[in-house]
Amino acid sequence: MKALEIHNLVKIFKTKKGQSVHALNDLSFDVMQGEVFGFLGPNGAGKSTTIKTLVGLITPSSGNALINGVPVSTGTARLKVGYLPENPAFYDYLTPEEYLTYVARSFLVPVAEVPRCIEQTLKLLELWDARKRQMRSFSKGMVQRVGLAQVLVHDPDIYILDEPMSGLDPLGRSLVKNIILELKNRGKTVFFSTHITDDVEKVCDRVGIIVKGSLVAVNNVENLLKGGVEGYLVSLQSADSTLQNLAPFSVLRQSGTIFEYYIPKDGFNRFMELVIRSGSEVVLVETRRKNLEDYFLSLVK
Ligand SMILES: Nc1ncnc2c1ncn2[C@@H]1O[C@H](COP(=O)(O)OP(=O)(O)OP(=O)(O)O)[C@@H](O)[C@H]1O
Ligand SMILES: [Mg+2]
Repeated sequence: MKALEIHNLVKIFKTKKGQSVHALNDLSFDVMQGEVFGFLGPNGAGKSTTIKTLVGLITPSSGNALINGVPVSTGTARLKVGYLPENPAFYDYLTPEEYLTYVARSFLVPVAEVPRCIEQTLKLLELWDARKRQMRSFSKGMVQRVGLAQVLVHDPDIYILDEPMSGLDPLGRSLVKNIILELKNRGKTVFFSTHITDDVEKVCDRVGIIVKGSLVAVNNVENLLKGGVEGYLVSLQSADSTLQNLAPFSVLRQSGTIFEYYIPKDGFNRFMELVIRSGSEVVLVETRRKNLEDYFLSLVK
């Protein structure tokens, strides 16, 4: 079943000077329930505009967006959604505890469950010790963590996150990736934008790539990575100090009785035949692949 649907979205902003900015051009795609979908694109591609349309903050020029089959303009459609805006900002004079109480109640979490939900969320995001501090004293990373906390606190089914790892240090980024994987294990749907390919490679089932307001590719991440195999680095151990009988493949490096070869993808079977005939022992095979970044750059350029 589809959790999110975007049909032929077009968004044209009108600037104060009367100019038109075509932010989205006929964008269509779906996110299935239980899926982690990465929305990848360079700066200014239209990621935030798409996300704001999905959560009903922007009205599209044409086209529409649905959450669980219901138009986003309906409040009930958004009750099961957690939304993290890009550059979140909160009430300076509230503490995380006060703010999360307000959020949890807005999303109809029963009063008796609110303290437990808040404690669990703040501990998960390592904000528990700061729960009674006014947020005006928070660092950028702490504000981002509060942003994630207000998403998680009401345990929604669908997560729409605009650059969730932004502003976080490596530990914070790794924490967020683990949270996303945990959400996936619990059957939740996660849709998040990023311009960092590594974030997508580690956690996403599928990736959609947006460039200048148009979707240029939607792909299964595992297939993409499998399809990107270019060759293999193979290490052999042999008593034969020259290993000349493996021609036409030449040794890349030699260290004592270990010989390292780079074998292009289409030469691997032929190479293995020669290895078996030579009586050498394979000690290591490493796959050399194009990564998602190469793929992304080839599309964006
Ligand atoms: N309110 C607005 N008025 C005019 N133009 C806008 C407005 N909001 C966005 N745009 C333009 O729409 C385009 C897409 O912007 P958007 O914020 O969606 O990009 P993005 O992919 O989220 O980029 P980033 O990675 O920098 O966050 C840009 O050209 C931007 O300048
Ligand atoms: Mg953005």
